[in-house]
Amino acid sequence: MKKIIIAIDGYSSCGKSTLARALAKKMHYVFIDSGAMYRAITLYLIQHKIKIHHEIEVANALKNVHLAFEFYPETEQNNMLLNGVNVEAEIRDMAVSAKVSEVAAIPSVRKFAVAQQQQMGKLRGIVMDGRDIGTTVFPQAELKIFVTADPAVRVERRFKELFEKNKNITIEEVKANLEMRDYIDTNRSESPLRKANESKELNNSHLSREEQLNIAYKWAMEKINA
Ligand code: CDP
Repeated sequence: MKKIIIAIDGYSSCGKSTLARALAKKMHYVFIDSGAMYRAITLYLIQHKIKIHHEIEVANALKNVHLAFEFYPETEQNNMLLNGVNVEAEIRDMAVSAKVSEVAAIPSVRKFAVAQQQQMGKLRGIVMDGRDIGTTVFPQAELKIFVTADPAVRVERRFKELFEKNKNITIEEVKANLEMRDYIDTNRSESPLRKANESKELNNSHLSREEQLNIAYKWAMEKINA
């Protein structure tokens, strides 16, 4: 069967990764969470106390960053490896979320991540989620989905997810972080978050995981059989 590239973009915490992971599993495709790469780079810069406004320092630091995904069959999830260390849990912390969008706006960081993402798509048969996948990483993707959800729904979903791990987190903190990241992501000069013209919009505010998966799967099959 023909293998396609599926690009899934959208704002923070709208359920992109959940959809992308489930769709990849159903289609036996590779799933790549591009946000995890920006999060791992951010973690490295924090750990090494790199000044993120110092372009040269950041560009030099990137020479020491090696990113890889490792697939864990038990959980059927990809975990992010930063220089060989599993950082999957750490990259989801608020300390990383607080800085990631500033880091992701740095041109050298984007160049570094996008080149690796494009390499991963060489064999096709991939579902990648992020902010610029349909516009910059894979403008040639056969299927582009732009996921949206009401802001209040997004805040509640992310709050629930983070509260499981940290009972001190507040809903205000989560809301402020999402608003800040959405603002930076849409206003940066380097490949800002935009809905690609030809992308299909999927508002999942009132859809179950299964319902959103069925819609996306149907779209994918239409492209494959076209
Ligand atoms: O899962 P969540 O919505 O919190 O975000 P993420 O997908 O983990 O991405 C974290 C951050 O990385 C985003 O807020 C963006 O600033 C940045 N990002 C990006 O600039 N381009 C991408 N393709 C993916 C993420």
